[in-house]
Amino acid sequence: MSRIAYVNGRYAPLHDPLITVQDRGFQFADAVYEVWPVRQGLLLDQEGHLARLARSLRELAIAAPMSDAALLVAVKETLRRNRVRDGIVYLQISRGAAATRDHPFPSPRLAPTVVITATRLKPAALEARAATGVKAITTPDLRWGRCDIKTVGLLPNALARQAAKEAGAAEAILVDAQGFITEGAATNVFIVDASGALRTRDLSNALLHGITRASVIKVAEEAQIRLVEAPFTVAEAHAAREVFLTSAGMAATAVIAIDGKAIGDGKPGPVALKLRAAYLEGALVAAKRNAGALVAESGAEKL
Ligand code: PDD
Repeated sequence: MSRIAYVNGRYAPLHDPLITVQDRGFQFADAVYEVWPVRQGLLLDQEGHLARLARSLRELAIAAPMSDAALLVAVKETLRRNRVRDGIVYLQISRGAAATRDHPFPSPRLAPTVVITATRLKPAALEARAATGVKAITTPDLRWGRCDIKTVGLLPNALARQAAKEAGAAEAILVDAQGFITEGAATNVFIVDASGALRTRDLSNALLHGITRASVIKVAEEAQIRLVEAPFTVAEAHAAREVFLTSAGMAATAVIAIDGKAIGDGKPGPVALKLRAAYLEGALVAAKRNAGALVAESGAEKL
């Protein structure tokens, strides 16, 4: 089955050239994006991702191309056309295409370019990876000062992930100039310290405000696990009982080794496994409730 992308109101084969070379996303990485996890045909953490998208657009003064409701219609239609029941959906919005390449924002405002793609992932493969855990490397964080904005300017992240791949690892953990871990190349990082407390770096412009991070924190609070939001070092991660990563693609996935050194006993720990299960279950229940509410709403409209 050929894959279909949504591009500015059209559904077209993924590789159709529907974006112009003048697009500012292409020329300046002047674009933001979101990735939703999809399970059982439902978007997880729907509202959180929409809220972060709105914030990213606002921070860069890119016009919102349409309402959240209209965006969700296109997202769900893209899932349907690609028959994605489990996987991820990717949404990218650039400032648009200008007549000439010039660094400042064109005036009047451009019509933003909207692209949506969907990728199928096998739930069994995702669960198998979580059951085994993943390896990580550490690498200097070479990024800019606004990592809280989810832009497509991901070259340092791509280079870090490539270095991880070449080392036989799944993630690169980024380390700032002071020796503190900021986050992963495409994940947030948690540790369970010797006292059993959960630790993750506090939110700032230095890291992405992960939606999965927020959901996992909520689940941990419900489970009455003590949480400390503060920076920690690579040495503290090495000494931790557990280390795990969170993201739309990985949910919560244990790290079993960093730079070749085992974390704990080198197997996914109980806290990571418990939080993963509780997060996925809770997110799915909320998504079903959301979908139910929508069905009820459209039912009511028909009456
Ligand atoms: N990445 N940190 C970075 C740098 C990220 O790129 C991501 C997500 C996260 C986790 O955020 P969330 O829980 O909202 O997915 C943290 C996406 C999945 C990606 O680039 O594919």
